[in-house]
Amino acid sequence: MNVSEILIRESFSVEEIAFMLQAEAGDKAMLFEKAAQLKELHVQNKVYFRGLIEFSNCCSKNCLYCGIRRDNPYVNRYTLTDEEVLNAARFAFENRYGSVVLQSGERGGDGYAKKIESLLKKISQFSQGRLRVTLSCGEQSFETYRRWFESGASRYLLRIESSNPELYKKLHPDDELHRFETRLTCLDGLKKAGYQVGTGVMIGLPFQTYEDLAKDLQFMKHFDIDMVGMGPYLEHPHTPLYEFRDRLLPKIERFQLSLKMIAVLRLMMKDINIAAATALQAIDPMGREKALKVGANVIMPNITPGKFRNDYKLYENKPCTDENADDCQHCLEARIALAGHEIAYDEWGDSRHYRGRTKNQEPRAKNQEPRAKRQEARTRSQCLKDLHDSALTTPETGS
Ligand code: 5AD
Ligand code: SF4
Ligand code: FES
Repeated sequence: MNVSEILIRESFSVEEIAFMLQAEAGDKAMLFEKAAQLKELHVQNKVYFRGLIEFSNCCSKNCLYCGIRRDNPYVNRYTLTDEEVLNAARFAFENRYGSVVLQSGERGGDGYAKKIESLLKKISQFSQGRLRVTLSCGEQSFETYRRWFESGASRYLLRIESSNPELYKKLHPDDELHRFETRLTCLDGLKKAGYQVGTGVMIGLPFQTYEDLAKDLQFMKHFDIDMVGMGPYLEHPHTPLYEFRDRLLPKIERFQLSLKMIAVLRLMMKDINIAAATALQAIDPMGREKALKVGANVIMPNITPGKFRNDYKLYENKPCTDENADDCQHCLEARIALAGHEIAYDEWGDSRHYRGRTKNQEPRAKNQEPRAKRQEARTRSQCLKDLHDSALTTPETGS
């Protein structure tokens, strides 16, 4: 087997993918080059910004790898007020980001579902439906997913973490809250509810093999996902999985493996959105930009208010915890220009794949109207003026 022979194929076996994931030197360069070409051909050298709002680090789950797991007593728990979330969303809108991502630890209960529903409606109202909202709020009932979709969310991120049920079990407590089958049911439900669906895995986990990772990529292909966020696993000292840190690949190898995962996925799914995960930057200061060069096309600048950033630590060395949204924006502009890419301001950057897979379906809800129809409605400057007016008049409730 050699990489140049594999690269000319249309589809790849598990063995071929695993082989590419182990490519080094000239073979690795060839893989990266091919992924870069395909990216330019299918999604261009544009980068879409999704302003990330980490609105609460309270979580009812206890994933064995995660720094904000329920039983970590060293976490300062916080939940942003609605006003703080809306201010962050306004920052994204005023700075011409096409989308925001609302992310939190996983919570159940009607109060939580209603809070998100109300936030979605307010964001939709002030932006006249022009700011796309992605949710990353874990496993929920189909009814909750449907309600959030109807309230204005159009994309959802739910990582499968590992598509190997045995490995999934090793990463999670063995109880009803942490079932692999539930994760699959939720991913199915998200598709049925009409979302652009994103998933992803952690790369370089203890016990994980190249074959597992190859099968993860095939899972994404077979599930026909629209978006992916995947990055290196980073051990956190206050988690049970830390015990196995001696089994891990060196961080720099986890980083390279993550780049290869992105590159191979771009070969397999040419028109999906692939995020350059923040965890890459925790290993290499230019990590996200390197990911853009080998196939990623989405970056999620953190726009959580600065004072809370340090408390949303899924892993150690999380970047940008001392910066604010403005700092990150300017920093990223310079970095992305250096990487030879262009930031697609004022564009939603919907997954092309999603448009392809749903083009023969009826629009699912108001927020699925074709973009052209919505954009003719008003110019951006009118919209921003309305935003300032409504900021003065719209009552906002704290949580
Ligand atoms: N290292 C890397 N990624 C992590 N996540 C959680 N903990 C870690 C960690 N220690 C990822 C999981 C989760 C997402 C929100 O963050 O994949 O789905
Ligand atoms: Fe909670 Fe998500 Fe962390 Fe699991 S990975 S403990 S669900 S925040
Ligand atoms: Fe946050 Fe550079 S991206 S400071």
